[in-house]
Amino acid sequence: MTEGADQFGIVTHGLTKIFGAITAVADLDLEIRRGEVFGLLGPNGSGKTTTIRMLTGLLQPTSGRATVAGIDVVKTPERVRQRIGYMSQRFGFYEDLTIEENIRFYGGVYGLIGRERTERIAEQFARYRLGDRAKQLAGTLSGGWKQRLALACATVHRPDLVFLDEPTAGVDPASRRMFWEMIREHADQGMTIIVTTHYMDEAERCGRLAFLSRGHLIGVGTPKEITTRFGLPTIEDVFIELQRRDEADANA
Ligand SMILES: Nc1ncnc2c1ncn2[C@@H]1O[C@H](COP(=O)(O)OP(=O)(O)OP(=O)(O)O)[C@@H](O)[C@H]1O
Ligand SMILES: [Mg+2]
Repeated sequence: MTEGADQFGIVTHGLTKIFGAITAVADLDLEIRRGEVFGLLGPNGSGKTTTIRMLTGLLQPTSGRATVAGIDVVKTPERVRQRIGYMSQRFGFYEDLTIEENIRFYGGVYGLIGRERTERIAEQFARYRLGDRAKQLAGTLSGGWKQRLALACATVHRPDLVFLDEPTAGVDPASRRMFWEMIREHADQGMTIIVTTHYMDEAERCGRLAFLSRGHLIGVGTPKEITTRFGLPTIEDVFIELQRRDEADANA
């Protein structure tokens, strides 16, 4: 096991989730190190969200083991939740609360109290440049601002790891770039980032990638390692090739 992976990252062995006739995640072995920006890629329905839901302790695996920040997430999911942030595929905040109320609320949910809570909230306002809009209702924000707020909520307690499930879907290029700069900043400070995306330029920004296909892990590596392994010029080409195989299998 890589040094630090057990304490700060993620280790899974044979992680599996079966829904009736569908094996959403099949026998997944993964190791993610502290401070990695780790991308989960795969076509619709390949098991990305299901993997994240198991690793955040929201969904009980059918079988297999996983530790997140050194904690057994199958046995003690509630202990894991204090160490992680989660931005779900739908923005995880309240549209009828203001920006300030949302961040304050999440600070409370994640267990911050007193002076620490006040300090962390101020820190998020500065880092995410949300100050001018403190009193604006979250529901009235544009896509890029919503995404920024969602990340600010998910990291208010300085988690060891943060899970971002398609955080930039439907957001313009300038906002996406800014978002990735913030992700980079968090990772440089030691936060481990697990991100799913359908944007290939974002995949190329990840330190390492895992490709899922119908619940199976079919490759892990740096973007360069993966393109080399497949003998294709870009991650987008690999993605399209895998999707083509997937559809061929489905029709077989
Ligand atoms: N609660 C559930 N009950 C039954 N089937 C489910 C459930 N959740 C997910 N699935 C199925 O498991 C498979 C994996 O779904 P999942 O949402 O993990 O995929 P995904 O890779 O996140 O897809 P997308 O890119 O569309 O978000 C799909 O076939 C999906 O229909
Ligand atoms: Mg999903």
